[in-house]
Amino acid sequence: MGLQGTVGFASKILINNSSGILQGVLNLGTSENKLCFDLIEKRLTRPSCKKCIAPHLLQYSNVQGTESFREEIAKFLTEYARAPKALNPEHIVVMNGCCSIFAALSTVLFDPGDGYLIPTPYFGGVNPDMWLYGEVRPVHVPLDSKVSEAESCPFQLTVKKLEAALQNAMEQGIRVRALILINPHNPLGDIYPAHLLKECLDFAHRHKLHVIVDEIYMLSVYDDSTFTSVLSLNPPDPEKIHFMWGFSKDFVMCGMRVAALHTRNEEVRLALNQLASFHSCPGPVQYILSQLIADREWINKTFLPTNRRRLREACHILVDGLTSLGIPVLRSSAGLFVWADFRKFLVTQTFEAEMELWWKFIAEKLYISPGGAFYCCEPGWFRLVFSDSADKIHLDWLGCQSIPSLPRWFDSDIPLPSNSKVTLYRKKPFIEFYCEHSNCRQMLQPIVHNIEVYKQL
Ligand SMILES: Cc1ncc(COP(=O)(O)O)c(C=O)c1O
Repeated sequence: MGLQGTVGFASKILINNSSGILQGVLNLGTSENKLCFDLIEKRLTRPSCKKCIAPHLLQYSNVQGTESFREEIAKFLTEYARAPKALNPEHIVVMNGCCSIFAALSTVLFDPGDGYLIPTPYFGGVNPDMWLYGEVRPVHVPLDSKVSEAESCPFQLTVKKLEAALQNAMEQGIRVRALILINPHNPLGDIYPAHLLKECLDFAHRHKLHVIVDEIYMLSVYDDSTFTSVLSLNPPDPEKIHFMWGFSKDFVMCGMRVAALHTRNEEVRLALNQLASFHSCPGPVQYILSQLIADREWINKTFLPTNRRRLREACHILVDGLTSLGIPVLRSSAGLFVWADFRKFLVTQTFEAEMELWWKFIAEKLYISPGGAFYCCEPGWFRLVFSDSADKIHLDWLGCQSIPSLPRWFDSDIPLPSNSKVTLYRKKPFIEFYCEHSNCRQMLQPIVHNIEVYKQL
């Protein structure tokens, strides 16, 4: 299938057929991969999947995950994460999504009030995941876009920055228990080189920290970069490494709600298994996904090459479009999004101005994610998701949507919606920020959900 047939940027738009006027919101904000539903649908409707209704799958089962599913996950991760030795299925805990794994780990590895180190910007969902159950707070390691001789890449993580953030937290009396790394990175779309990953593990070892590594985009690498999974390394303290991966992104199934944790730490596993009964996955779903990941022929010959090609093509369209409009984009290798620099469109270099710009995008029917939602320390960055397909749509949104009109916003006066509480939001505790941000999203839900996908242009 060619690009024209598969890639579109309009996830949820309603087009008034007669006038051609867009009435919905173009959603480039939600990190979902909609490029390969056709492949998944075909695979999941094969006759063998019907066996998922077998009686034993409809009964209570091991809350850690069924044995057969954990065995398949262990084999799958051994191969795709290039583990030097076969992973032990007993070291795997299955839960309903990486968010649940974060939440469960927050109560197991930490005491309330403890902190975790995390480089910014980062996937903002980590905050509520770690806070709502565990009352554990982030200790930011702020990365910015400046490049220097020592740091040739924007937003580059270094051990020096980790050390400084840890020192800072200790001075404030925060007990830091873990380092969280997201690799491939959300929202930057880049990959940690192996040497940096090893340095981070050594740093954590020196300070007796646990390391939680979220590799949910592990198979969504679409260029020639080499991805190094933490499972392929020999860490200095293997009992303190906790790896997670799920089906939401790499197998385009965030609605399935399935993810797996790998940890060699028996105590942690025993504690997690107590919580797993609140977060377990349905037996039929585990059966279907076992079939899916056991099918290497389909994964290697059909799914992965097609998904990678479609991701690459979709990414190019978005990057080329942004570049032609003079909007710089960070080079990306993986994930479903790009990190773009809209700083020149801010009235002032502040987060208030960033939110104003965000509301203007919304007013122009474009939903993208502001850097503040990722705790970026520099205002003006936005994450744009490109992995959207709506059957036959290849909407030339760059030609008809809001971005070309950006310059006129300098003088325009689009009022902020009255319920937007943008002022000083960064000074409030993050939990309030989270609620505010989700309120913005809730406000959009009726528009985003009650609309049809327009299938033909
Ligand atoms: C880095 C990262 N981790 C975890 C999640 C959530 O994963 P799940 O759908 O498995 O709960 C997301 C979703 O956007 C993500 O980007």
